Amino acid sequence: MLRLLILGGTADARALADALVQRSGIEVITSLAGRTRAPRLPAGLVRTGGFGGVTGLTNYLTEARIDLLIDATHPFAAVISRNAAEAGTQAGVPRLMLLRPEWTAQGGDRWTMVADVNEAADRLAGFPGTVFLAIGRQELEPFARLGDRRFILRMVEPPTGALPITDAHVVAGRGPFDLDQEMALFHDHDIGIVVSKNSGGASAYAKIEAARSAAIPVIMIKRPDLPDGCRVKTVEDAMSWVEDRRKLLVD
Ligand SMILES: NC(=O)c1ccc[n+]([C@@H]2O[C@H](COP(=O)([O-])OP(=O)(O)OC[C@H]3O[C@@H](n4cnc5c(N)ncnc54)[C@H](OP(=O)(O)O)[C@@H]3O)[C@@H](O)[C@H]2O)c1
Repeated sequence: MLRLLILGGTADARALADALVQRSGIEVITSLAGRTRAPRLPAGLVRTGGFGGVTGLTNYLTEARIDLLIDATHPFAAVISRNAAEAGTQAGVPRLMLLRPEWTAQGGDRWTMVADVNEAADRLAGFPGTVFLAIGRQELEPFARLGDRRFILRMVEPPTGALPITDAHVVAGRGPFDLDQEMALFHDHDIGIVVSKNSGGASAYAKIEAARSAAIPVIMIKRPDLPDGCRVKTVEDAMSWVEDRRKLLVD
């Protein structure tokens, strides 16, 4: 039995787990950070919560006798990716990164590229209108300094505590959203500017298309540096990597 740990929290991680559990001789464990109270669960086994840094993850890989590690976390989840690289090396477990391709600007896009959320908050001052802040809920603090600027946030679950932004209107919703839904959101809330991470992939792309068709500017946050190592862009290529590795382990 091949034991595989998927670091999850993305639709790709879920699709990969769902596909791999269909294959005989593979046991799939998906690890979730535990940020969402009612996450969509993948097939196979699921564990939840941090490991306790590199040491905790190294111990887990060893104690759970993990044969292969797939880091399918979000491209902006850089800490766990760096930990996975280090722990994989220390525990001698082969590691793959499943990383969807970045979006690239197309004709009609009005993107301003920034390095991080802090620069995004700084650059916002130069753009008028209500902000659609599509960056999740963990990094809102830098936008607090924009005072009474109006922000629209979309969240899977309502926030548990007070948000750091004074004029924040939360819209409930779990993606993926299509172009019509995003156009309606922009219209209903009179969106003047979008702030987005360059997450890549199809499921979050409709807001970028909607901004293009409505000629709304986008402040696009570049991806953080991620560790080196073997990378694939699709679930299918990750499946092939698992099969190749399985052959090597059996031989
Ligand atoms: N950042 C985003 O924009 C974003 C967007 C969509 C989904 N997500 C998902 O949300 C999760 C958390 O993202 P983040 O940006 O907070 O990550 P992060 O900053 O890279 O990680 C912070 C800490 O959270 C724990 N952690 C993160 N992912 C984990 C996982 N899959 N299983 C177990 N522990 C995990 C680790 O704790 P320990 O050090 O204690 O092990 C890690 O050191 C990720 O799994 C990611 O795929 C993130």
